[in-house]
Amino acid sequence: MSSQIDHLLNENRKFAPSESFAANAIGTVGLYEHARADREAFWAQQARDLHWHKPFTEVLDWSTPPFAKWFDDGELNVAYNCLDRHVEAGNGDRVALLWEGEPGDERRITYAELTDEVKRLANVLTGLGIGQGDRVAIYLPMIPEAVASMLAVARLGAIHSVVFGGFSADSLRSRIDDAGAKLVITADGGYRKGKVSALKPAVDMALADRNGSGAQESVEHVLVVKRGENDVDWTEGRDLWWHDVVPAASKDHEAQAFPAENPLFILYTSGTTGKPKGILHTSGGYLTQATFTNKVVHDLHPETDVYWCTADIGWVTGHSYVTYGPLANGATQVLFEGTPDSPHPGRWWELVEKYGVTILYTAPTAIRSFMKLGRAIPNKFDLSSLRLLGSVGEPINPEAWMWYREIIGNNLAPIVDTWWQTETGAIMISALPGVTETKPGSAQVPVPGISIDVVNEDGSHVGNGNGGLLVVTEPWPAMLRGIWGDPERFVETYWEKFHAQGFYFAGDGARLDDDGDVWFLGRVDDVMNVSGHRLSTTEIESAIVGHDATAEAAVVGASDETTGQAVVAFVIIKQSYLDAHTPEGLGHSIRSWVGEQIGPIARPRDVYIVNELPKTRSGKIMRRLLRDVAEGREVGDTTTLADTAVMSVISAQVK
Ligand code: WTA
Repeated sequence: MSSQIDHLLNENRKFAPSESFAANAIGTVGLYEHARADREAFWAQQARDLHWHKPFTEVLDWSTPPFAKWFDDGELNVAYNCLDRHVEAGNGDRVALLWEGEPGDERRITYAELTDEVKRLANVLTGLGIGQGDRVAIYLPMIPEAVASMLAVARLGAIHSVVFGGFSADSLRSRIDDAGAKLVITADGGYRKGKVSALKPAVDMALADRNGSGAQESVEHVLVVKRGENDVDWTEGRDLWWHDVVPAASKDHEAQAFPAENPLFILYTSGTTGKPKGILHTSGGYLTQATFTNKVVHDLHPETDVYWCTADIGWVTGHSYVTYGPLANGATQVLFEGTPDSPHPGRWWELVEKYGVTILYTAPTAIRSFMKLGRAIPNKFDLSSLRLLGSVGEPINPEAWMWYREIIGNNLAPIVDTWWQTETGAIMISALPGVTETKPGSAQVPVPGISIDVVNEDGSHVGNGNGGLLVVTEPWPAMLRGIWGDPERFVETYWEKFHAQGFYFAGDGARLDDDGDVWFLGRVDDVMNVSGHRLSTTEIESAIVGHDATAEAAVVGASDETTGQAVVAFVIIKQSYLDAHTPEGLGHSIRSWVGEQIGPIARPRDVYIVNELPKTRSGKIMRRLLRDVAEGREVGDTTTLADTAVMSVISAQVK
């Protein structure tokens, strides 16, 4: 970490927005001034940009921290805000989704068409007994039906739990169980790198009898989109084809009003323990901040821009900046099913050219992999339509930032590096592209209306030029309202550390430069960030020890040029397996096991077979030392180890 900090300290380039960009930008200095003068009035004004069936009179209720209520006496319908109101305003013919499937098939869907589809689906869901507060699991590829499903659930005041299609049957099962989902919406399969990857079989496995599994009991129906055309098993009475029921349903459906604090979704994310937490978001505050930030940070002009956020709807970025923010703003956006490099490594740039994308929002890991392939590939395409670039998910190193600016943005498009979390619901820290002089590698400043600080362990401000812990010092509209079914864990994880000050503890290390701008330094807990995806060391360790051959395991996140961090596992193997198998065979088997248990993204890059793990006298594994080994550094201070010789043995075994 220290070499990284030195490197960042030497970074002092700055880029001001061009005059013409600044002149047309939606986000202005005035927003900061208004927010500073009266934070609550500022957020109330942003909220009033939405349609309220019943206007709110209260803004923030913070009488029982950390449980906030925003716009509590107001009522709205989230889907109505994303759909009907645009049609009613005469914009029904505007394209909402420019969808492209991996094989190259296309669909253009207008706001009027998407509204009809969501209304039909809402009628189908009502017929299946889904109503306010019911949970619906969504396990779909990046197809228009995924967006429609989220909106139809929201329209009914029900709660969706989107599970990333790359997660395994086991991960899906635990998420269905935890939320007690009544319905699962899935597809037969989706396209991935030229092949159909099956989804329905994973749902069948997740719902299979497992000695009284909750999933099997709570789920009444499975609604299946035909996409992959792969063969699937069918459970009569439980399973329904989308194409049989949705087109046949009525397209008349009036959106009912729901309270601002009605839950909108649960999204599971990795924490520091083995069990993923169901982050709970509600309606009015969430939609307000997602919509506002999408507008001012991405400088979204819905009449003229073609917006593309490359995130999958299985992650929070796909919730706030594919589904809710852009559709509430009435944007036209690209939705792409495939991967960046299939069938050729220029696929994304081909799409930018083809659709005339003006705003691109993606992750540093993608930029770094393009950088590795070289500029010749993007240079083959006309990227001159791009006028704003965004980054999200992990710190972006200055080299990648500069490459993004020069090669993709033609040295013109401002870059917004946006920091936020599943828990924060929407962007918290970012430049405003028409206002801020941007700095490569720094997320910089809180967006208007957000109050943050970097503090010492005791909660005191670190002062410019120093590092510490990132905190949010005032409640914000899109803040998580809790962890599903576990209020204690919510309080403990985020609010206990700075209880005295009432600060939200984000789990990120950060530094303030001499201007007071924020530079992120990565997580300070046992959460890893691999290609912008959050993974928990403990979760992967418990998967590995579930493998028959394994006696014990420790997992660390080691820095990786492309993925930011990579999963590295140190594993003690049972003697009988050591005798019967090669180390390569065991490593391979453990890697695929983790892929099956959690999902391919969690598969360790390296599996090192060792005899012992470094432990303190109280038996705690010292992952810091293993990280030194994994990153090829000299091993740090070992004096608190129970057996100080163990690290030299491990280092030798790894070599
Ligand atoms: C990291 C993704 C530095 C951070 C929206 C945070 C970032 C975690 C940035 C949340 C950024 C996200 N700069 N770090 N611009 N954006 N992070 O919940 O460690 O998947 O705590 O939300 O990603 O990841 P999550």
